[in-house]
Amino acid sequence: MPTIVLRHVSKRFGPQELPGAGRVAAPTARLFDTNRAHNAGRPRTAQEPPDRSLALDDLSLTIRNGETLSVLGPSGCGKTTLLKVIAGLLKPDSGEITYDGVPIQAIPIAERGIGMVFQTYALYPHMEARENIGFYDIVRHQPEKIPERIRHIVEVMGIEVTHLLSRKPPTLSGGEQQRVAVARCLAREPKLFLFDEPLSNLDAKLRVDTRMQLNRLLRHYQITSVYVTHDQTEAIALAHRIAIMRAGKIEQIGTAHALYEAPVNAFVAQFFGTPPMNLFLGHIFGNAWEGRGFQVSSIRPGLHQGQAVWLGIRPESIELGDHGIPARVEFTELILPQQIQLVYVTLSGQRCTIRAPLSTRAEPGDLLHLRFPPEYLYFFDRDSGARIG
Ligand SMILES: Nc1ncnc2c1ncn2[C@@H]1O[C@H](COP(=O)(O)OP(=O)(O)OP(=O)(O)O)[C@@H](O)[C@H]1O
Ligand SMILES: [Mg+2]
Repeated sequence: MPTIVLRHVSKRFGPQELPGAGRVAAPTARLFDTNRAHNAGRPRTAQEPPDRSLALDDLSLTIRNGETLSVLGPSGCGKTTLLKVIAGLLKPDSGEITYDGVPIQAIPIAERGIGMVFQTYALYPHMEARENIGFYDIVRHQPEKIPERIRHIVEVMGIEVTHLLSRKPPTLSGGEQQRVAVARCLAREPKLFLFDEPLSNLDAKLRVDTRMQLNRLLRHYQITSVYVTHDQTEAIALAHRIAIMRAGKIEQIGTAHALYEAPVNAFVAQFFGTPPMNLFLGHIFGNAWEGRGFQVSSIRPGLHQGQAVWLGIRPESIELGDHGIPARVEFTELILPQQIQLVYVTLSGQRCTIRAPLSTRAEPGDLLHLRFPPEYLYFFDRDSGARIG
């Protein structure tokens, strides 16, 4: 399995080819919506994508031998373009891509050994599933000779049952087609597996089942893979490392744990984690942070006096008690499998999410008192979004 290295890769699409121009990345919108009043008339900052025609912007990345790297990012940030560039289907304007040190262009397509599975399955509709997987002749003429690898893949993917194998794609459900498509790719012994939201058409239960099957196979065969998804749970379950992309760049790459605990900027902090981190704009005064209508004291030292910063706190870090910052309950959402509820409150006119036990009394209109423990606070520079504390 190869190690794939991308160095300073850029790809620009011409303005006439820009169907996505003008799209606003959802988390960016969310970040600034939360505190809209503070941002009226604010000049453009590094928080906003500077150039929408750059699908990949000086992007460098190493995909390690045998690892599954997941790529998460808002719609239009360049994920599919990244996969196409890695596969050699799209030539970057600048930068280079190497497989084990060899430039991709120097390797004939047939020898690259890349398997790709996309949201649309691209099976051959007129062929039975077993023909699609590519061992039809063996099954028909010498069933005892089915290679062990194919036997194993087909079994793990749950398509060993003959009634599936002998059917043609139009008669298979979306989930069945998806599993056949994955099996087809794996059967060809890819050196590199590229997935572009392969499970997004499946229902919740099938997604979980197929994700587990896929996980088993990727681990077993240690296939280097890049897995693009919008589903954070899927990324966490499948990937060794996760890359968070935005506007053609990788903002941060690391384990799910590292991204969650130590986001490098406000974008990653809000993008990674469900529900997202709460952010409030304010200033540093003495050892306190002062925002609109409330303040938090005893914050960590080292922040500049008067500096404009976003204060961040995750929903599960907010404590409720008899005293604290008053906030009015808007509505609640029960998350029964986790035995918790999400309580949405209004705090000085801004929405804030709290993760609370089911036993917490929180009816719409109730007044709660919130405490922001200093040890769980994050601080981000207002203009650059960079984490500063
Ligand atoms: N063939 C193309 N011609 C012109 N622009 C393109 C082309 N392909 C992609 N783009 C633009 O490049 C940017 C990145 O597109 P890409 O498809 O890589 O995004 P994505 O992250 O995969 O989005 P999604 O999550 O919606 O699939 C978008 O602004 C898109 O409109
Ligand atoms: Mg895409």
